[in-house]
Amino acid sequence: MYNFINRTLICLACFALAACSTHKVSSPDGTLTLDFQLRQGRPAYSLVCNEKDILLPSPMGLVLLAGEDTLRHLKWSVQSVTFASADTTWETVWGEEHFIRDNHNEMKVCLADGEIRMNIVFRLFNDGFAFRYEFPEQDMTDIILLDELTEYIFAEEPQIWSIPWQTEYYEGLYTKASLHEKDTMCSPLTLEMPDGMYAFLHEANVTDYPCQNLYSRADNSLGTYLTPWMRDGRVLDHKAYLTVPFVTPWRFMILTNTLPELMASRIMLNLNEPCRIEDTSWIKPMKFIGIWWSMHMKEWTWSQGARHGATTENMRRYLKFAAENGFGGVLAEGWNTGWEGYEGINNDRFSFVTPYPDYDMDALSAYAGELGVNIICHHETSGRADEYEADLDTAYRFMQLHGMPAVKTGYVSPLIRTRDGYQFNRSQGVVRHYRKVIETAAKYHISIDNHEPAMPSGLQRTYPNLMTQEGIRGQEWNAWAQDGGSPCSHVCTLPFTRMMAGPADYTPGVFAFENPIIPGTRVHSTLCNQLALFVILYSPLQMACDKIENYEKHPAEFQFIRDVPCDWKQSRLLDGKIGEYVVMARQDRHSEDWFIGAVTNEDARGITIPLSFLSEGEWKATIYADAPDADWQNNPYATTIATQNVSASDTLNIHLATGGGCAIRFVKQ
Ligand code: NOJ
Ligand code: CA
Repeated sequence: MYNFINRTLICLACFALAACSTHKVSSPDGTLTLDFQLRQGRPAYSLVCNEKDILLPSPMGLVLLAGEDTLRHLKWSVQSVTFASADTTWETVWGEEHFIRDNHNEMKVCLADGEIRMNIVFRLFNDGFAFRYEFPEQDMTDIILLDELTEYIFAEEPQIWSIPWQTEYYEGLYTKASLHEKDTMCSPLTLEMPDGMYAFLHEANVTDYPCQNLYSRADNSLGTYLTPWMRDGRVLDHKAYLTVPFVTPWRFMILTNTLPELMASRIMLNLNEPCRIEDTSWIKPMKFIGIWWSMHMKEWTWSQGARHGATTENMRRYLKFAAENGFGGVLAEGWNTGWEGYEGINNDRFSFVTPYPDYDMDALSAYAGELGVNIICHHETSGRADEYEADLDTAYRFMQLHGMPAVKTGYVSPLIRTRDGYQFNRSQGVVRHYRKVIETAAKYHISIDNHEPAMPSGLQRTYPNLMTQEGIRGQEWNAWAQDGGSPCSHVCTLPFTRMMAGPADYTPGVFAFENPIIPGTRVHSTLCNQLALFVILYSPLQMACDKIENYEKHPAEFQFIRDVPCDWKQSRLLDGKIGEYVVMARQDRHSEDWFIGAVTNEDARGITIPLSFLSEGEWKATIYADAPDADWQNNPYATTIATQNVSASDTLNIHLATGGGCAIRFVKQ
C-alpha cells in the first residue's frame, strides 16, 4: 500500500545460463552472499556472512505427485537467472513501527526438466535472506505435494530455542538445546550461533499451504516437515493440494550480530503482500477488559447457571469500568448458547446469534454505544470449523447489527473438523479455513483475535483486520496449569521466540496471584512484571485480563495500564538475554510519549538504562519499580512509584526483583 519512497525494480540481467554452475546474490550492504548451484541436477544453496560460512550447500526442492507420476528425482537445468532490487518504505496500519523499509536484492532462478518448470526466487536483505518456490503456468494443473526437501545445513552447530511440533496449539515453553539434541520443532526457531550471532528461522505468507515444522538431521542439518492432511483419522503423505501456477510461502532466516538487530528485523512483514483492504479506517487497535479471568479461575462459568459470568448486570459493570478507565472494548465470553458442551456435559452446537436469556444483547449494545465502548464478541467453535464456516455471514451480520467491531475466535480441540474431515490446526485445510474467516470478517468490517491459530506468518500486512492471535502459552496457564504455572523465565523467552512471528494475545495484567482452586499454581511474577508485559508483549488488541475488583485494589499501579498505548511509532530492544531478562522501549504512535518495560527471570538483577533514545529536552519519567524487598513468591505486590525529570544524557539504574519487572512512562515536558 502506501509506498512513498520511489520504488525501483530494476531488471539487471537475463541470460541463458545452462552451462554456468553457480549463481550468487548479495545483500544490499554486501555482508550476506547466497550461492545457488545445481548438483547433479538437484538445487542447493549456501550462505556466507562476511566471508564466513553460515550454511553449507543445502538441498532444496519439492516432491510432487502429478497424475500417476511421483516427481522426486527431477534433473533440473538452469534456463535463466534474473536479478532485481527494491528499496521501498511502506506505512503500517498499526504495528510496532509506523514505517517499514524493504531493501533487498532478488535473484530468480528458472529451472526446467523437459516440460516441467520451477523457479526459485531468493531475496537478500541486510539482516537475512528468504526464498520460495514458484510453479509457473505449464502443462500440469492439479498436483499433490508430497514433501518439501528444503534443508538448512549449518557450518557450525547452533543452539536452538524451540517447542516440539506436537505442542498443542503452540502453547509450550521454549527450551534451548544444541541442534543435535533437538528432535522435532514447530516453526519458528531462534538460534544462537557459536560465533555469537543470532538467527531466526520461520516462514512468511502462508497461503493455501501447510505450515512448516522442522526436525534435526545428522551433520548440523535441519529438515522441513510440512503438516500433512488426514483422512478418516489416518495421517496421509499428502501435504498440499495445489493448482499450477502457484507459489509457496517464503522460507526466511534473519541473521544478525546482536539481539536488538534481530528484534528490529521486519523481513517477515516485507515478504507478505501489501494491504488488500482499501479503507482501513475501521481497523482500530485498542486495549480491552473482559468477562474472562474469573472463568479460568472457576469463580464464574461460561454456561448458564448460578455463577454465569456474561450476565447483563456483570457486563454493564464492565462496560462502565471500561469507559471510566479509557479502555476501547469489553470481551464477553459465554454470552451465547452452546457452552454446556464446552464444560463437558453434552456437545451442543454453539449459536453465534443467540444470547443466553440473562444477557440482554440489545440493551447492552445500546449502553455500550452511549458510553463509546465496543463490545468484543466471542466465537468459540470447539474446533468445529465446518459449522463456523456455515454460520460466518450470519454471525458477522449479527455483530455488525449490534455494533461489535472485533471477535475473539477459538478452536479448542486437538483436531479441527473441516468440510474435509478432521485435520491438524496447521494443515493446508485449516489454513484455508482461517483465511476464509479473515476475508469474510473484512467484508463486515470486523477484526479478528484468533485463538488456537496456525502459527502467524505476517499476514496482518495484507489483512490488517487479523489483529492478534494466540499460538502462545498465555496467561491462562497460570490459572489452571498442573505444572504450577509458567516459570519467570517464560516472559523473558517469548519476545525472542514466539513474539517474533507477530502479535500475541497473551493477556497480561493479573493483579492477584494466589489461586484458591489450584493452590500450587500461580502467576510467577511481581505486580511490576505484569505492568511491563504491556510494553514487552506486543498486541494491537491488548487485554488487561484481571477482574475489576483486583484492579480497584491497586489504583496507583493500575494507572500505568490506563496510560500505556498498544499501537507504536517505533520499538527497540534496549537490552536483554534470551530467557534471562528483557528491556524494551516503544514510542506511542499517537503522541511523543515513550514507554519502557523490563522483566527478569528467577534472578533478581540491576539493570542500567541509558536514555539516549529520548529526543532533546526534558521528560517526566514515572517509574513503577519493584520495592527493594519485593519478590514474586513472598512479596509480589511491593512497588515503588516515583517521578523524576530526565533527559537523553541520563541513565537509570533499576532493581528488578526475582520474577520482577519495571514499567516507565516518559512524557515530554
Ligand atoms: C481457549 C482460549 O485460549 C481462552 O482464552 C478461552 O477463554 C477459552 N478457549 C474458551 O473459549
Ligand atoms: Ca488457548
